[in-house]
Amino acid sequence: MTIQTKKADAVIGMEVTGLDLSKPLSTDERAEINRLLAEHAVLCFPGQQLNPPQFMAAIENFGPLMPQQHDKFTLPDYPMVGFNSTKDLPRKNGKLQVRGENYHTDHSNFPVTPKATALHALEIPSYGGDTQFVDVRRAFDDLDEAAKAECTQRFSVHVHQSPRSPRSFIALNDEQLAKIPRTRQPLVIRHPDSGRPALYLNTGRMEGVEGMPEDEGYALIEKLYEHAIQPKYEYRHKWRVGDVVIWDNRSVMHQANADYDPEEFRYLIRLMVEGVALEPAFH
Ligand code: SIN
Repeated sequence: MTIQTKKADAVIGMEVTGLDLSKPLSTDERAEINRLLAEHAVLCFPGQQLNPPQFMAAIENFGPLMPQQHDKFTLPDYPMVGFNSTKDLPRKNGKLQVRGENYHTDHSNFPVTPKATALHALEIPSYGGDTQFVDVRRAFDDLDEAAKAECTQRFSVHVHQSPRSPRSFIALNDEQLAKIPRTRQPLVIRHPDSGRPALYLNTGRMEGVEGMPEDEGYALIEKLYEHAIQPKYEYRHKWRVGDVVIWDNRSVMHQANADYDPEEFRYLIRLMVEGVALEPAFH
């Protein structure tokens, strides 16, 4: 096996070289990259040149692909493949309104949430547009015992858009909205592969905390969120054309940045890998 790894200068993140993702991987290589993902939570494979079917085949090494929630931002010929493109983004006061600003985990309102999300960078602006990740396993581990007791055994219903969402999601009519799942998720999940406990937060989608008065529930979510997004838990990915980055949605939250020149083009293609229904860390 020719896989080489270099740890990112952060609690999470690993650069993986020595693999050409346009080619089939061996069983050992597949097992190794899945092991690395479960441990390091964010992997970057630099210098790849993948067309959409090659990207799909590469990411299937991590598991079956999962459709994007909306087909508005998917490739017509490859509906599993989403895209993040500067060209579709509205502007407010000259600033691009990017999707995914504010830390979150993908599709948390689904009964079976994505194990992982992957992006392949095809065009990158000359500055800005990094993607940030925070380690929600480490964030949970660092809570004191009282804070752990406060959030374990708690659940929140995740919906299309929380009444207190800090960001706006795609506008849907009633018929579309009726098709979007709502799912009760633990505040602290057990990672399905590693067994590690992790905070499971998505302030854009959480409808308070079950069994708590509304304001108290949202205050708890906010407190955990502010704790989890501290720089000490962060890996910040600076994109290069050709990067394939994959992250584990059960171990990290991520956020996009709109801090680049809106006249420059940023274009990444996107896939999600199906996971399993999430379980609480402690029964
Ligand atoms: C996302 O796909 O969640 C956004 C990441 C990015 O475009 O930086």
